[in-house]
This record gives sequence, structure tokens and C-alpha cells, in this order.
Amino acid sequence: MSSNSATVTVALEGDRRYDIAIANHSLQNLGTKLVEIGLGKKSNKVLIVSNPVIYKHYGETVSSSLTNAGFNATNLILPAGERFKTANSLQKIYDAALAHRLERSSLIIALGGGVVGDMSGYAAATWLRGIDLVQVPTTLLAMVDSAIGGKTGINHPHGKNLIGAFHQPRLVWVDPEVLKTLPAREFRSAIAEVIKYGVIWDRDLFELLANCDRLDQLRYVKPDLLQSILYRCAKAKAEIVSKDEKEGNLRAILNYGHTVGHAIESVTNYRLYNHGEAVGLGMAIAGAIAVDLGLWTQPDQDRQMLLISKARLPQTLPSDIDLDAIAASLSNDKKVEAGKVRFILPTALGSANLSDQVTAELVKQNLRKIVA
Ligand code: GLY
Repeated sequence: MSSNSATVTVALEGDRRYDIAIANHSLQNLGTKLVEIGLGKKSNKVLIVSNPVIYKHYGETVSSSLTNAGFNATNLILPAGERFKTANSLQKIYDAALAHRLERSSLIIALGGGVVGDMSGYAAATWLRGIDLVQVPTTLLAMVDSAIGGKTGINHPHGKNLIGAFHQPRLVWVDPEVLKTLPAREFRSAIAEVIKYGVIWDRDLFELLANCDRLDQLRYVKPDLLQSILYRCAKAKAEIVSKDEKEGNLRAILNYGHTVGHAIESVTNYRLYNHGEAVGLGMAIAGAIAVDLGLWTQPDQDRQMLLISKARLPQTLPSDIDLDAIAASLSNDKKVEAGKVRFILPTALGSANLSDQVTAELVKQNLRKIVA
């Protein structure tokens, strides 16, 4: 991998401003970085939250980096997977915080993917009414999306991410080397979110992706392109979040592909597709709807679909899928406002808008076209 490094700043007010630092082999420098920026220094106590696989690979590196820098670090290993993003796991973080006597000036470090990041973030948002959080994302999805922007939370038995809080991290520490142990399916499904940034915000990113023959595995993505992906996605998210932290309006464009994507995930019981795969299908449908409404062009939709196919993401739905259930599920989405589903539609490569013109019938018409 290249030794490139880059920093993106999330330009929020006051001490909520923070950096996303991207550098190869940087895990072992986390402790010194925390000392340099004065995080956790008063109490010296740090709780690292992780999952078994990630901790096995990287826990020792992070933990000794903290100990060598003078921190009193302990860890909590929680089971991996969306189904463990629960109140029960959250309670375990609180129990560890209590056992380790975390104080207001202590720190929680989330070492893992979106599940670890969201739960640790919510624990940090609520423990003693809020303590500092550092995100150390280890999946591509967390690096480009969930570790940035301060959305934290857990699932309710009846819906994803229904319980949560905005709590910005103090630092996002990205070491691209860790992607070498990421399973291929997780890599390619995160590419759906990468394509999303190209469509909604960064046309140059879209063109960089279009120049690559295959996007489905890390080994086909050259180090310089990987660095550009991480940097450009972080920059896009930082720009959007610093303009609209609490999703009053602009931030909603990050949900491109997610409205139908969430409905597909939910109707297939989170078993058939993982999040990125469902988002890829959602982007295909949203793009087709935007063409129907005359908001963007068929050639741009075709180019989006070419990227989705280069990432080997699914493009069809099983023949027994319940399209009515998907349409019904749209109205349970968090993006519903005053009874209307807020749909994000692309308007050009690098630009998207909120729309309330999308009917359930239009969604179903387009879903029908991709039933295998
Ligand atoms: N993942 C969407 C957002 O952070 O707003």
C-alpha cells in the first residue's frame, strides 16, 4: 500500500471540530496522537470497545499504543453483527464503564465497523451525560460513512437505529492497512456507499471509479485509488455534515438509495442482502425513478449501473419478493415527514435533491423491472 496520508477536518463549531486522519500503519501511533491533541489526559482512562475478530487482529496494537503513551486502557469485546446492536450490548458497555470507573474526562475508543461504532458512540453520548469518543473504523463502510458525522445508536426490536443521539467523535483515525483482513463481500458492499458519494456529491470521484475495471475486491483497487476513495468520501461527508449536522435538509442526501434499500433489507428480514447490497439496489431504483421523472438522464443512469456491476453488487430481486410489502415498508422509514416519504433523487453526476413526488406506484413499477 502507498504511504500516502491525508487529513480532512469536520468543520463544526468549537470543540466539536475534529479531524479524520487517514494514514497507513497509523494504528500503532494512536496513543501518541491522543497525547498530542490532549484527549483523555486528565483521567487517563480509556475503554476500547471492539468485536472478537477485529480485536484479535488489531487489539494488541491499539492497546499497547495506548499503554506506551501512558494511558490506563481496558477493553470490552462484544459479539459482531447487526443483531447485537441492542440495549443488551449497550448495557455491557455501561457495565464496563462503571467497572473501569470512567470519568467525564475519560475516553471511549470504538475499534471496529459500524455496529461497534454506533453502540460505542451512543454509550459515549450518554455515559455521565457525555464523554469523549474516538472512532477507529476497521471496515470500508465505517471509514467512508458511519464513523464520521456523529450519528450513534442502537436498534429497537422493531426497527433499525430507532434509538440514538448525535455525538460527534473527537477524532476519526483511519489506517487503510486494516482493510486487508476485510471479507470481500463487506468490501464490495461498502463500494455501494462510495458510488453514492460519486453520484450525489463528487463527480470527480465518480470518474475515478469509472476508470477502474473492477471494484469488487481490494486487490483490484490500486493504493492510490483507495487513498482517493477514503479521502474524497471523508471530505464529502465532512462537508455535508458541517453544513447540516442534524439532518435539517442537506444531510438527507446521504440517504440516497437508502429509502428503498432499508425497505428491501427489512422485507427480506436482513438475511438476503447486507446493507450496502440493499443500498446498491436502492440506488438503481432511485436512479430509474429520477429518469422517469425527467430529473436525470438515461446515460447517467447507465453509467451508475455500470459502476454497480463493476462492484459485482446484486441488480435483481428474487421472483418471490413481496413488492407491496416493500412499498408499505417505505412509509415506516425514518425519512418520512408529515406522512410523505422523502426520496433522494440524482439530478446530475455529483448532485442530488430531496423529492416528495415519488409515489408508491412509481416505486413498484421500477421494482417490477428488476425482479428476476
Ligand atoms: N449515514 C448517513 C448519515 O450519516 O447521515
